[in-house]
Amino acid sequence: MLSILASSLLASLAVAQQIGTFTPEVHPPITYKTCTAYSGCTTHQGSVTLDANYRWLHTASGQTCNPAGFNRTICPDADTCGETCALDGADYAGTYGVTTNGSALSLLFGNGGARVYLLDDTDNYVNFHVMNQEFTFDVNVSNVPCAYNGALYFSEMPPDGGISATNKAGAAYGTGYCDSQCPTGINFVNGTTNVDGTLGSCCNEMDLWEANSLSTQLTPHPCNVTGEFICTGTGCSDLCDPSGCEFNPFRMGNESFYGPGDIVDTTKVMTVVTQFLTDNNQASGTLSSIRRFYVQDGKVIPNSVVNLSGLPKVNSITSDYCTDKMNVLGDSTAFDVHGGLAQMGQSLARGAVLVISLWDDLGGGMTWLDGLAGDASQPGTLRGPCTAANVTSDPATSVTFSNIRVGDINSTFSQVHFGQCGGQFYDGPVLCADPYSCVFSNPYYSQCL
Ligand SMILES: *[C@@H]1O[C@H](CO)[C@@H](O)[C@H](O)[C@H]1NC(C)=O
Ligand SMILES: *[C@@H]1O[C@H](CO)[C@@H](O)[C@H](O)[C@H]1NC(C)=O
Ligand SMILES: *[C@@H]1O[C@H](CO)[C@@H](O)[C@H](O)[C@H]1NC(C)=O
Ligand SMILES: *[C@@H]1O[C@H](CO)[C@@H](O)[C@H](O)[C@H]1NC(C)=O
Ligand SMILES: *[C@@H]1O[C@H](CO)[C@@H](O)[C@H](O)[C@H]1NC(C)=O
Ligand SMILES: *[C@@H]1O[C@H](CO)[C@@H](O)[C@H](O)[C@H]1NC(C)=O
Ligand SMILES: *[C@@H]1O[C@H](CO)[C@@H](O)[C@H](O)[C@H]1NC(C)=O
Ligand SMILES: *[C@@H]1O[C@H](CO)[C@@H](O)[C@H](O)[C@H]1NC(C)=O
Ligand SMILES: *[C@@H]1O[C@H](CO)[C@@H](O)[C@H](O)[C@H]1NC(C)=O
Repeated sequence: MLSILASSLLASLAVAQQIGTFTPEVHPPITYKTCTAYSGCTTHQGSVTLDANYRWLHTASGQTCNPAGFNRTICPDADTCGETCALDGADYAGTYGVTTNGSALSLLFGNGGARVYLLDDTDNYVNFHVMNQEFTFDVNVSNVPCAYNGALYFSEMPPDGGISATNKAGAAYGTGYCDSQCPTGINFVNGTTNVDGTLGSCCNEMDLWEANSLSTQLTPHPCNVTGEFICTGTGCSDLCDPSGCEFNPFRMGNESFYGPGDIVDTTKVMTVVTQFLTDNNQASGTLSSIRRFYVQDGKVIPNSVVNLSGLPKVNSITSDYCTDKMNVLGDSTAFDVHGGLAQMGQSLARGAVLVISLWDDLGGGMTWLDGLAGDASQPGTLRGPCTAANVTSDPATSVTFSNIRVGDINSTFSQVHFGQCGGQFYDGPVLCADPYSCVFSNPYYSQCL
């Protein structure tokens, strides 16, 4: 009995997701900031790591384990595969088009884009807590055409990437991905090799930004699970809301709000602010509204207001907006069934990992984001100006995200009344919230009055 236990323990410990060393893993460094009202921001040194699925997975002699799906000679079963195959370091710039510079991260599409995660200085994913906070970044989408998507979002992934006796790679090698689509294509799931693609990896997902230069979408995707949840077969259905309750200005009736030369001009860099407001103005509260602002050329631009008959004239995501959208536009009820904004908020309160990716869908086009998704005679089916004629392959597609910052409401892009808005050594927003303006006091201090 004991020896059976001991040998099965040995066997299970040997089933490890190995680390390969053909290319040394050097995470591209990037800075990000945390900010507080009144006193400005603190800079942190982090880095990015490439998702495990994008990495070269190979045997000790350098044979690829998954040339087109898993090679069943090398990987007849999950245990053998885990013992035999290793995740290698990444040539970030050369192979994946991933480069950083200070606070900026650029993704060049090249051969197929990339998906990266933000790491802290201990090689764990930064675990963001954004309830009653705002999350802000600058983005240059000018070079992202129809059918491409430069995305920045939160997933409730394990902050250590699920590192364990059976996963030696962990967050440093980009393991532990999950999202609200419960993807079944993840090669390693919780230390098990997903050779048959039967395992799905589900978790709550908050899409702050899915966009190209033609359309943009902000989308909470709640799930009925806590953390990363591994599902199998039919057990994967109905755990999450894969469509989400999105806000897309174009779809919501304002076709001239976001795009080249529009009010939010996608030919220029813009700042994107997303606020997670709660019912009691505390991090402990229930998520009640997800609010968006843009800042461009020193001007704060509130999100567009919904202009579709039957829908509330709001410019943020609230429970009423989501429920009315289901009723009026016939959107999926999955959002409410999976707990809606409240459930999304519970996930965000537990913490979220930052995911940044650049991907394409040249097959059908990315119509859910930028084109016609449904019957053109029905309201709310046109989500952007792109048509099949606009879908062309462009490996030179690129996106740059920079100045990632998180903090108290209004602390990352404009200051509150009496807050500091300038001065030598000050590192924080220089705009003041309406109706205040920045008043010079002395060379070390300006204040919103
Ligand atoms: C799978 O691996 C075996 C054993 O190394 C090899 O002979 C075969 O060519 C591989 N198949 C593919 C499609 O790479
Ligand atoms: C990095 O950014 C700095 C300042 O933002 C700029 O001067 C420099 O040219 C950039 N370097 C590269 C390689 O893009
Ligand atoms: C934005 O990206 C485009 C395309 O890559 C580039 O030409 C332009 O210089 C970038 N703008 C800024 C302000 O960095
Ligand atoms: C991962 O595997 C460990 C050990 O088998 C188990 O305790 C844990 O619950 C699993 N995690 C998930 C998310 O399934
Ligand atoms: C689009 O949004 C802008 C800015 O909020 C507003 O001025 C304009 O009237 C809106 N247009 C439509 C058609 O809703
Ligand atoms: C709402 O859209 C209609 C056209 O569908 C337009 O005539 C009207 O000006 C828009 N309202 C606002 C406030 O922009
Ligand atoms: C998901 O959670 C919601 C409330 O949080 C509940 O109403 C619903 O029945 C749950 N669905 C499943 C499939 O567990
Ligand atoms: C899409 O293609 C049509 C026809 O060539 C063109 O008129 C239009 O400007 C294109 N739109 C975009 C967003 O590229
Ligand atoms: C944040 O700024 C907005 C817009 O200027 C303002 O309506 C709101 O009251 C401010 N909230 C806080 C907490 O300062």
